[in-house]
This record gives sequence, C-alpha cells and structure tokens, in this order.
Amino acid sequence: MAANQRFMGKVALITGGGTGIGAAIATQLAAEGAAVAICGRRSDVLQQKAAELQAQGYSALAIAGDIATDAAKIVNSTVQNLGRLDVLVNNAATSAGMEVDELSLPVWRQVLAVNLDAAFELVRATLPYLIACRGNVLHISSISAIAGEFDDVAYATSKAGLEGFSRRLALDVAIHGVRSNVIRPGLIHTEAFDANMPPDFFESQVPFIPLRQIGQPEDIAHAAAFLCSDEARFITGAILTIDGGESAK
Ligand SMILES: NC(=O)c1ccc[n+]([C@@H]2O[C@H](COP(=O)([O-])OP(=O)(O)OC[C@H]3O[C@@H](n4cnc5c(N)ncnc54)[C@H](OP(=O)(O)O)[C@@H]3O)[C@@H](O)[C@H]2O)c1
Repeated sequence: MAANQRFMGKVALITGGGTGIGAAIATQLAAEGAAVAICGRRSDVLQQKAAELQAQGYSALAIAGDIATDAAKIVNSTVQNLGRLDVLVNNAATSAGMEVDELSLPVWRQVLAVNLDAAFELVRATLPYLIACRGNVLHISSISAIAGEFDDVAYATSKAGLEGFSRRLALDVAIHGVRSNVIRPGLIHTEAFDANMPPDFFESQVPFIPLRQIGQPEDIAHAAAFLCSDEARFITGAILTIDGGESAK
C-alpha cells in the first residue's frame, strides 16, 4: 500500500490536536486517509484546525473538552460521529512551571491529572474499540522523562510515568493485537513557545543540539504516522527519541 494511504478507512483521536505537535500529527494522519477527531479545551482553536483540514478535503471532527474530566465523553463522541476508533494519540499535556519548593500538592496533582491520569482514562475508554480493530495507542512523552532542566518536576514525573504506563500497557494488550508506543521529543518549535519565550530562544538552543537544528512538529508527525500504521505491526512497548541527538550526549 502506498505510504499516503496508510490510514484509509481508519479513525484517529488526537488529544491536543488543535495546536503544535498534535495539529501536525492530525494533519499527517488525515492526509494519509484517516478521519481525525481532535480535542482540547479551546473550541475556537479546534474549530479553526478542523475547518483547515476540511478545506483540504480531509475528514476532521472538533471535540471540545478537558481530558482530565471528559475522557470517556470525548471517546464516545468520536465513535458516535466517526463510527470506529483505530488510533489514540495521547498528546495533550500541561506543566506547572515551578520548582519543587514552590509546587503545592493541588498543582502537582493537576499536572498528573492531565498528563497521566487522563492518558489512563482515555485508554480505558478506547480499549474496546482498539481491540475490535487491532488498533494502537501512541503517547507523546518528552526527553524531560530522562534528562534536561527546562521543564518542571511535576511535568518530568508525569512523562516518566507515561513511559512506564505505555510499556506495561503494551504487555497487557498484546494478546489482542493492540500496540502501545511512545515518541519522546526533544525541543520542537511550536507556537506555545513563541508566546512564552524570548524571540531568540530557539536560536540560543541550537548549539546544544548535536544536529544543530530545532525540531519541527512535522518531524514528530512523520514518525507518529509510521508508528501508528500497520508498517509498525511488530513494534510495541517501544520508545522513539526524536531530539536531534540531544539526549545521546
Ligand atoms: N514542543 C516541544 O518542544 C515538546 C518537547 C517535548 C515534548 N512535547 C510534548 O508534545 C506534546 C504537545 O506539545 P506542544 O509543544 O505541541 O504544545 P501545545 O501546542 O501547547 O499543545 C498542547 C495541547 O494540549 C491541549 N491541552 C492541554 N491541556 C488539556 C486538557 N486538560 N484537556 C484537553 N486538551 C488539553 C492544548 O489545547 P487547549 O489549551 O485548548 O486545551 C493544546 O492543544 C505534549 O505532550 C508535550 O509535553 C513537546
């Protein structure tokens, strides 16, 4: 089958699919034939992204909701509207932006609720549909799970937990032909950084990256499409680091 038809007839739910890496994954899967459901809290952002995909002739559904509280509703809405569910991409995440001595238990729990508990709830709600079609789950982690100092302790902990969850989930569901994998990005240029960091931020980071470039959302999306496709049918419980060599140092 041609690479650009790998998701024909399939349905993918991408959390945080309205922006950044999630939006790039949604575009890639939709371009390869998937009907995509994208979720996030900001309805206007999602509607705009869904309209952009539809204008290119792709099938896209925007579902507004908070994954920390609405996981089952988001999954049900996907299946009710699109008829099945083959691929779940656990991409949405948040961070606290605080060092350990500033962090309170409620803030810690909120980060874990979005980045880890919601991944579990989404998988629980999705699993019957994935089992029905031998589908798969892709979790977007971060090199913060194993290295680095940019992100906070709650975020780093949640990503390490997500990687453990994926590995063990892979073993639990392998008997059903369902796969679970992780992509672990390094620094990727998304609009969230543009809003929060000084204009020369990315340029200042280039010397620290062995390949001397900043990753783009498409670098993650291309690998995501491979891991979620049948071409990766023998890959489960795996972690693919995509960071220009940063964590190899
Ligand atoms: N960019 C990088 O350098 C980098 C590096 C390593 C890992 N990552 C990982 O890549 C993933 C995507 O990040 P990004 O860089 O593309 O940033 P982003 O554009 O800020 O993406 C985060 C997305 O998650 C959604 N989201 C956040 N909280 C949510 C909630 N409670 N319920 C539903 N949706 C929620 C946001 O939409 P709403 O705000 O509308 O809810 C947004 O669309 C994350 O898992 C991040 O940890 C990114």
